[in-house]
Amino acid sequence: VYAPGRGAAPRLAVAERSARYAELSSDDVAAFRTMTSSVLEGFEACRPYNVDWMSKWEGRARVVLRPASTAEVSAILRYCDARRLAVVPQGGKTGLVGGSVPVHDEVVLSLARMDRIEAFDADTGVATLEAGVVLGDLDAFLRDRGFVAPLDLGASGTCTVGGNLATNAGGVRFVRYGSLRGSCVGVEFVKADGTVVDCASTPLRKDNTGYALPQLLIGSEGTLGVITRLALAAPPRPAAVSVAWLACSDFDAVRGALALARRHLAEVLSAIEFVDGNALRAVLDRERDLADPLGGGDAAFRVLVECAGSDGAHDGAKLERFLEAAFDDGCVVDGVLAPSASKAARLWRLREGVSDSMTAAGFVYKYDVSLPHAHLYRLVDECRDRLAAAGFPDGAEINVAGYGHVGDANLHLNVCDFSGYREPLRAALEPWVFERVAALGGSVSAEHGVGQCKPDYLHLNKPPPALALMAELKRAMDPNLILNPYKVLPPALLDEP
Ligand code: FAD
Ligand code: MLT
Ligand code: ZN
Repeated sequence: VYAPGRGAAPRLAVAERSARYAELSSDDVAAFRTMTSSVLEGFEACRPYNVDWMSKWEGRARVVLRPASTAEVSAILRYCDARRLAVVPQGGKTGLVGGSVPVHDEVVLSLARMDRIEAFDADTGVATLEAGVVLGDLDAFLRDRGFVAPLDLGASGTCTVGGNLATNAGGVRFVRYGSLRGSCVGVEFVKADGTVVDCASTPLRKDNTGYALPQLLIGSEGTLGVITRLALAAPPRPAAVSVAWLACSDFDAVRGALALARRHLAEVLSAIEFVDGNALRAVLDRERDLADPLGGGDAAFRVLVECAGSDGAHDGAKLERFLEAAFDDGCVVDGVLAPSASKAARLWRLREGVSDSMTAAGFVYKYDVSLPHAHLYRLVDECRDRLAAAGFPDGAEINVAGYGHVGDANLHLNVCDFSGYREPLRAALEPWVFERVAALGGSVSAEHGVGQCKPDYLHLNKPPPALALMAELKRAMDPNLILNPYKVLPPALLDEP
């Protein structure tokens, strides 16, 4: 349920505060001051930690704790568990499903000060680091050593590796390096009762000694434990990178380009992304220094193809063969190759700028879904038709845009209402989008997670025994339910009123 909230911008309404949680007292704050040196108190100091990236959700935490070590996290959680104070783990706060901010007055536990890269093994490429390291900083560290972070995304300058792991973030290198579930070779986390579980200090590529506990934490969105340290296996940094920007007339042509890119580029394909005309226009309207190098034609889609390998000449020859095949086939009607790294970066901005540009233009309903390739863009077309029938034609008042990680069959459907939040528009979109995705054989969350947006729709992707087991795991690891309440699991599953 959405409703206007406390701020000037519309906020989303939230689950009722559960009576199981204690209210913060001044004694609690005094106790926290003995556990960590960074305690923020009061509306102004806490506000940046209460409002999410898109200004859609706003909590009312009265205290923010910024521990500097695992021992401090452990002491804080032990105390909060005993006192039944609810806690929200927070990284860079770039999450897009309202998971990283309090719903009510939960204590914010920010990992921002735990930002040390502790060790790097050049034989294996494994970096061991604290959860608050910013992803872009890790990548810069690895660049100096000839390696690359296995993950990249538009928020890399702000998001933290702990947040990436907690959301199992996908991003633009997924098509090449796969999920963090493969790259992460160790996690240290603190349970709700303060117990430290160190599965990060002996990071091994192969270790089949029983249950894979780190995997439980990956994608758990702060509901099972607080990630404090992790070990990530980084691949060698490719010596040569080339970027092509292509025009396709319809989405079948985008699929054709994807199939040819897979065949011809094979192991050097490092990213393949798409934007539709509306997504691209949103970027160009906002980022006035950018231009579409293929602006003249009327092809409706753009595809960004990146190749990265150890031998530029070899990759270049492959890219040429791919482009020849794509033009011969007709799926690509126009295209350019970036002649320099700076031009390549500008092409990337045309794709990665969509998220912020949409957010800046109005109130955005964001849907991040996986679908079988054959249905990937159908959802966008059907959404436009549905909204037009409900009195919201795509155009002057709203922008319905589709973009995303086409190589992973991951669509981002965004509906931006320039006039702000309107309940009838929301009602035309939800639950229809989620139910339609499930009917088409997809997932209601491909990479952003569930947060406080989608607990009510989990049943569309998980059968009842799976949901029941999720609740059992939650209760086993956090019996007092203090970690990130109101998120991920529907309250009824936890027998909450
Ligand atoms: P936060 O937003 O602070 O937290 C996210 C969730 O993780 C919350 O539930 C929080 O409680 C939990 N959490 C955070 N840190 C910890 C911890 N140490 N221990 C336990 N739980 C923790 N996502 C993608 O998957 N692919 C993309 O391509 C992508 N692109 C983006 C582009 C932009 C411009 C933006 C704004 C966001 C994008 N995201 C993307 C969404 C987001 O999930 C990622 O940015 C990132 O993984 C979140 O990291 P964070 O540190 O900001 O986490
Ligand atoms: C992206 O791929 O740009 C991100 O996941 C962010 C978004 O969808 O807004
Ligand atoms: Zn994405």
